[in-house]
Amino acid sequence: MSTTFTINSATSRANPVSAPMKRLTVPAVRDRKAKIAAGTGEPLVMLTAYTVRMAQLMDPHCDLLLVGDSLGQVIYGLPSTVPVTLEMMAAHAAAVVRGSYHAVVVVDMPFGSYEASPQQAFESAAYLMKQSGAAAVKLEGGVAMAPTVAFLSERGIPVMGHVGLTPQAVNALGGYGARGRSQAEADKIVGDARAVAEAGAFAVVIEGVVEPIAIEITNTVAVPTIGIGASAQCDGQVLVAEDMLGLFERVPRFVKRYGDMAGFVAERAQAYAAEVRSRAFPTDEQTYAPR
Ligand code: KIV
Repeated sequence: MSTTFTINSATSRANPVSAPMKRLTVPAVRDRKAKIAAGTGEPLVMLTAYTVRMAQLMDPHCDLLLVGDSLGQVIYGLPSTVPVTLEMMAAHAAAVVRGSYHAVVVVDMPFGSYEASPQQAFESAAYLMKQSGAAAVKLEGGVAMAPTVAFLSERGIPVMGHVGLTPQAVNALGGYGARGRSQAEADKIVGDARAVAEAGAFAVVIEGVVEPIAIEITNTVAVPTIGIGASAQCDGQVLVAEDMLGLFERVPRFVKRYGDMAGFVAERAQAYAAEVRSRAFPTDEQTYAPR
């Protein structure tokens, strides 16, 4: 993947000035499926982003940035994604759109904002897109949500599906364990993915399933699959950025930690605290002298 913009790190809290570049589009993401099948396309790269600075840093490397409702736990310390609101999603999605120039920004529809009816889903999705400028929404569910996926897609709202382990249903599922260990459950997940793909979803996230399910879905649906705890054979992968960066000591089995952000932050905070207490900080270098 080639990108051409440079981040203006001098204005780390403002919009970076970008060289002209074209943002990837939803059709280009959908078309990646055929390119991957033909051996001419790379797997799709998606990471979560909730803030402008993280978006700035990850955007050049990602095809998609997901403003996931996982922000409930990661940013707000909530026990699950269930309490996350539309307003929270809209505010973070707007920040991520401001911080990105290349990736397709997808925003999660939070629990309770779309399940009641296709009309409710349309109003919530339109609100999220108007408030943030995100290009697409993601919603959880399969067969039961297919009419909603069709309703939104037919009205110009690109929808990413999400099947398998669907965290908004944690109270019904009883936990976050991998799904699809029985044949009946495996068949249901495959049916769910097919239903949302056939209803018009432009891509489908497959989360936390035993691997053959992810492979079967990837081999049979016409749109890209994006795996998380699924299979290397999916058409792309997604992780929660803070998990991947090592901000948390404990991560699920499917997460690879590419760094130790928790250790990095804790060590620097400790060093800073020691220097403040010993009056080693600030020095003349960080102090304004009279003119
Ligand atoms: O909310 C989220 O971050 C997600 C990803 C884990 C797929 O839905």
